[in-house]
Amino acid sequence: MLEVKTKIIKVSQDLINEPAISEAAMLLRAGQVVAFPTETVYGLGADATSKDAVELIYKVKNRPADNPLIVHIEDINQLKSISVCEDPRIRLLSVGFWPGPLTLILPAKDPLKNAASRGLDTVAVRMPSHPVARALIRLSELPVAAPSANLSGRPSPTTAEHVFEDLKGRIPLIIDGGECQIGIESTVLDLTTPKPLILRPGRVTKEELEHVLDQEVLLANNDTLRSLPRSPGTRYRHYSPSSPVFVVGQNVSDTILNKSIRSLLNHSHQNTKFGYIGWRTVFSNYSNCVVKEIDKDRTDEFGRLIYRYLRELDDKSVAFMFVDAVPSKEFGVSVMDRLRRASTHIFQSDLELNSFILSQNKE
Ligand code: TXA
Ligand code: MG
Repeated sequence: MLEVKTKIIKVSQDLINEPAISEAAMLLRAGQVVAFPTETVYGLGADATSKDAVELIYKVKNRPADNPLIVHIEDINQLKSISVCEDPRIRLLSVGFWPGPLTLILPAKDPLKNAASRGLDTVAVRMPSHPVARALIRLSELPVAAPSANLSGRPSPTTAEHVFEDLKGRIPLIIDGGECQIGIESTVLDLTTPKPLILRPGRVTKEELEHVLDQEVLLANNDTLRSLPRSPGTRYRHYSPSSPVFVVGQNVSDTILNKSIRSLLNHSHQNTKFGYIGWRTVFSNYSNCVVKEIDKDRTDEFGRLIYRYLRELDDKSVAFMFVDAVPSKEFGVSVMDRLRRASTHIFQSDLELNSFILSQNKE
């Protein structure tokens, strides 16, 4: 790829007069790609109506060519040009959750003309709530196709610095709007299946969707996803750090944890660096442990920080890391979904962790 100079511009609160946003809008209109903050994660945007601009996203990210993109809108009137809008549930959901972290899979208006859908007859649409994202879409007067602004296989970026780490030299502009509030990607809800189906859980929960729709909503598991003809995103490798990630449930005792840390360190070297994300205090007894603290029972905070912390520990080349599991309810379901994909093992009990350690010792 041709190297370009990547600018990062911080934005102030006075968004409409913000030169960074007008510059970004101009770049979008010229068929370029730009990174911008949303309330979930940073996005890498391009003009969704231009095949060439959409292709550029795939090139910059090294994204598999058949993995479709979400089209971002700012005004509900933009929806008509992108999708078939007859379904009355669209209104319920847009009133209930837009602007916000919900993506809807709808029948595409003009599948062949829609470069973001990669040949599918459906399209993913989202109206983000972040003021910078909204100002950018409004000013560009375009529907904006945008995946997360990471290199394929890296965690989604939640700060402008993360985007810079991954895409420096590949894109002309990153709008720095600070840290993303939610920290994990939007809920993707398929409305083209017999029953509404969550393809990817996010900040908008199954319970909230069911409440607004007054209808049962299914949550796809890996088997459902594999059997679906159109769940492209789930076929691709999801981010997991280069070192093993062990997720530990609340029932795992500190005693067994200490024992397993000692045993894992025996395999390498006693002062080998390892990592921990969570609220337990045992880890601070190890001077070679890089601890990333998150308060207990703060699932929102866990969601906001998890990609950042996984990225930071991965960058420090820790030999392995432990992460506390959050309770699998409401938003915790989504956080656990990302942890499951990033992890090597999940241990719910002392017994499970113990037998894993024993099996390691036999090797
Ligand atoms: O929060 C988010 O959704 C962020 C911000 C930037 O908006 N975007 C994001 O995009 O996470 P991306 O490309 O990383 O994830 C989009 C997901 C992928 O799993 C993709 O396969 C799926 O949505 N998707 C897109 N179009 C689809 C379609 N027509 N049918 C089924 N899945 C689709
Ligand atoms: Mg992504």
